[in-house]
Amino acid sequence: MTVIVTGGAGFIGSALVRQLNTLGISVVTIDKLTYAANPDNLANLARPDLHRLHQVDICDAPSVRRIFAEARPSAIYHLAAESHVDRSIDDPVPFVRTNVEGSAVLLTATRDYCAGLDATARGQFRFLQVSTDEVYGELGASGAFDENSPYRPNSPYAASKAAADHFARAFARTYDLPVLLTNCGNNYGPRQFPEKLIPLTILNAVTGKRLPVYGAGRQVRDWIHVDDHAAALRAVVARGRPRETYLVGARGEMRNIDIVQKVCALLDAVRPRPDGRSYAEQIEFVTDRPGHDERYAIDPRKIESEIGWHAETAVDRGLRETVQWYLDNPAFCARSEVSYDRRRIGLISDDREKRA
Ligand SMILES: NC(=O)c1ccc[n+]([C@@H]2O[C@H](COP(=O)([O-])OP(=O)(O)OC[C@H]3O[C@@H](n4cnc5c(N)ncnc54)[C@H](O)[C@@H]3O)[C@@H](O)[C@H]2O)c1
Repeated sequence: MTVIVTGGAGFIGSALVRQLNTLGISVVTIDKLTYAANPDNLANLARPDLHRLHQVDICDAPSVRRIFAEARPSAIYHLAAESHVDRSIDDPVPFVRTNVEGSAVLLTATRDYCAGLDATARGQFRFLQVSTDEVYGELGASGAFDENSPYRPNSPYAASKAAADHFARAFARTYDLPVLLTNCGNNYGPRQFPEKLIPLTILNAVTGKRLPVYGAGRQVRDWIHVDDHAAALRAVVARGRPRETYLVGARGEMRNIDIVQKVCALLDAVRPRPDGRSYAEQIEFVTDRPGHDERYAIDPRKIESEIGWHAETAVDRGLRETVQWYLDNPAFCARSEVSYDRRRIGLISDDREKRA
């Protein structure tokens, strides 16, 4: 059995490839290796003989078709995406290209590939569209998203993911394809590109930089460890019902300021500042992200009851191990600095000029 993982050299994709590889499943990764990827994310696999990486853009239809024909996959896990909200505010077009056009290219190649399968193989085939809770827009102080929540994306990133989700649903219906969707909250863990809150905070802290917190830091996100998310994706492909959506969450709601404070406290314990003061003193409240959603929360009861998946990582342990991982892997961090110097991005032009 061979499966294809798009975006397998990124943060979540590489966690998924590692799990599949450990289980002895043959994986073909399609990844353009953008700034967010790191081929080292796929180094030291337990079974390197069971993994192949193609450096290919998912918008490149002939190459995608060639890979499908060679790999003969039984499932596609589609994770390749432009994934950073702040970058989508600066320039939405690459998000439309990769997230919308690229998804349509993959779905079209899947449609044509499935047409050539016999009835048994077609019945077993799965296409998983991996998406985000951000497509649902923002919640007030209470309640949680579920599978019936309406799509109300607020950022260009969320809009591009919402469009891709709609293509996935439309392909399932129009071409009777076995497509499934997952929408997950904020992931944390090893190998996340340090433009995102947790690795950015860790690296800025230990290099003596300020720790930017947007607005008053009161935005709430529903956090999940990346390994729990990857396990959920495997469970949905194995046991989910085609054409269904499953929300993936760990009941991990936390305010951004509380996450940053927790990271500072963990660093204070394992890598104390030379002056003995807390890293929390480096926190700086900065201009909020334009259109910043206040709160996301996920009701994971459907995936828990129908599929039997449950998140397993307690957030305190997960965060402690994550902090330690970044401290122990300076080569990963140094590599990311080549393409991103941890400067603020995603401000509309007036604010950008003020900060220049
Ligand atoms: N990170 C989160 O918290 C989160 C939460 C929910 C859903 N998701 C979704 O999960 C998926 C993976 O997210 P991530 O955080 O690992 O992102 P990431 O930015 O770390 O990785 C994305 C990967 O996609 C690759 N890629 C980008 N454009 C490509 C293209 N045109 N062709 C081929 N490969 C391309 C990149 O090289 C990179 O390896 C995305 O679809 C994202 O929307 C992420």
